[in-house]
Amino acid sequence: MISLFVFIYCLVSFCYGVENNTIVIKSEQCKKFEPCWANLDTRILPQWYDEAKIGIFIHWGIYSVPGFSEWFWNNWKEKEIVIHKFMENHYAPGFTYQDFAPMFKAEFFDPNKWAHLFIKAGVRYVVLTSKHHDGFCMFPSKRSFSWNSCEVGPKLDVVSELSNAIKQVGLKFGVYHSLFEWFNPMYKEDKKNNFKTLYYPNMKLWPELKQLVNDYKPSLLWADGDWEAYDTYWRSTDFLAWLYNESPVKDEIVVNDRWGKGKLQPHKWENAFTVDKKSWGFRKTMNANDTMTIEEILQEIVTSVSCGGNVLINVGPTQYGTIPPIFQDRLLKLGHWLDINGKAIYNSSPWHHQNDSVNSDVWYTCQKTPYNVLNPTAKPLITDTIFEIFAIFLTWPVSNRLILKDVTGYIQTSSYEIELLGNDGDLWREIKNGLTYIKLPDKATVLVEYTWVLRFTPKYKTSELRKNKT
Ligand SMILES: *[C@@H]1O[C@H](CO)[C@@H](O)[C@H](O)[C@H]1NC(C)=O
Ligand SMILES: *[C@@H]1O[C@H](CO)[C@@H](O)[C@H](O)[C@H]1NC(C)=O
Ligand SMILES: *[C@@H]1O[C@H](CO)[C@@H](O)[C@H](O)[C@H]1NC(C)=O
Repeated sequence: MISLFVFIYCLVSFCYGVENNTIVIKSEQCKKFEPCWANLDTRILPQWYDEAKIGIFIHWGIYSVPGFSEWFWNNWKEKEIVIHKFMENHYAPGFTYQDFAPMFKAEFFDPNKWAHLFIKAGVRYVVLTSKHHDGFCMFPSKRSFSWNSCEVGPKLDVVSELSNAIKQVGLKFGVYHSLFEWFNPMYKEDKKNNFKTLYYPNMKLWPELKQLVNDYKPSLLWADGDWEAYDTYWRSTDFLAWLYNESPVKDEIVVNDRWGKGKLQPHKWENAFTVDKKSWGFRKTMNANDTMTIEEILQEIVTSVSCGGNVLINVGPTQYGTIPPIFQDRLLKLGHWLDINGKAIYNSSPWHHQNDSVNSDVWYTCQKTPYNVLNPTAKPLITDTIFEIFAIFLTWPVSNRLILKDVTGYIQTSSYEIELLGNDGDLWREIKNGLTYIKLPDKATVLVEYTWVLRFTPKYKTSELRKNKT
């Protein structure tokens, strides 16, 4: 599986102080961020991002027309044999990548339909490729003449259309943006000069990124394609200081860590993966068995969230503007699962243990207060109140009996209700030699078909705690 892990900086948009073990936000004392990593890295992660947990990634552009992968143009130029043969067999000599653009009509693109699918899928944010490495902009970039979706192809401001539809249904909207462009002459010139000249970032990238942020006010900016040059070439710290100090989304914006070689922070992170295991962009030769099953998708979600991560689930729409039915199927199944089990995912925090020490197929999360502003992915602090512990198991145990170790200490010291989400009733349990044996209902009577969630709720004071929580 193509899976990449992205570490998100924990970045501050407001100032804070610690008083009596409680973090206090002091917005009126806000500092200005300096354009250096040490300072930018002190920004607190906007809370919406950690709470959201699940987003949708959309790779969509000209490359959806030939339908091989989003790297089509580059791979064709590099004479990848399959693509080379395909072009030779089916297109006239002299046909260029640009000639695919008018064929990208997106004639069935209905952003409201997409938004409703994503709502049904239970995701909380959506990230669209505003520009991939081919440089084609999905918005009317003033620096991308005749190479954007308003002038050629759909004749639509796709970023605007989708952004409006997504925001209207109450989800957060974000953009992916490739820093480099494979064949941009200015970029190639800079590269030839060992990145000592900055024609491309100054003349193209910066104005374009600022236009994108100012015009569409994204909540998330997912930079990519940074790897050939250092952050000094991209002027990343200058850009981020602008983003956090002056931009219209300075308090809201979350960025990833792809802003030039050699920067990686062990903070909040995101696991981006694609439902078509072989491509991020739409692939015409995709088989059913190339796609992730719902169980595989849930495993990625559960293991990531349990370890403090978010997931960004990628689907590649067709050139017509539709989302392939097999992706719809996975997303609808996900939404159905989250309807019952979402309590274990949204707004959750990592618990004291991530997977169980005798049953590694069981992953833990919890619901607690207060939210840890400074380090949302940290294990619960001693002063935190834990309302609920969740044990999420990926395999149904033989004889309907689940064995756990890491909850035993908790169950021993106070009285807990143990419940299988989707089925009512406090489950019978027994503690023997430090292990907890939980008797599950007969599987035939269980509402959830895969990836089950047990909820442990301390019986004492819960009503009081719940009251405080709401
Ligand atoms: C912190 O605790 C001190 C001493 O107990 C108290 O005087 C003060 O009011 C508390 N501050 C806040 C913000 O609760
Ligand atoms: C996946 O499906 C395709 C088409 O049905 C088939 O040719 C291929 O052998 C299958 N691959 C696996 C690993 O089952
Ligand atoms: C899960 O648990 C097993 C057994 O305790 C351990 O070896 C493994 O490292 C854990 N996996 C992760 C990803 O934490």
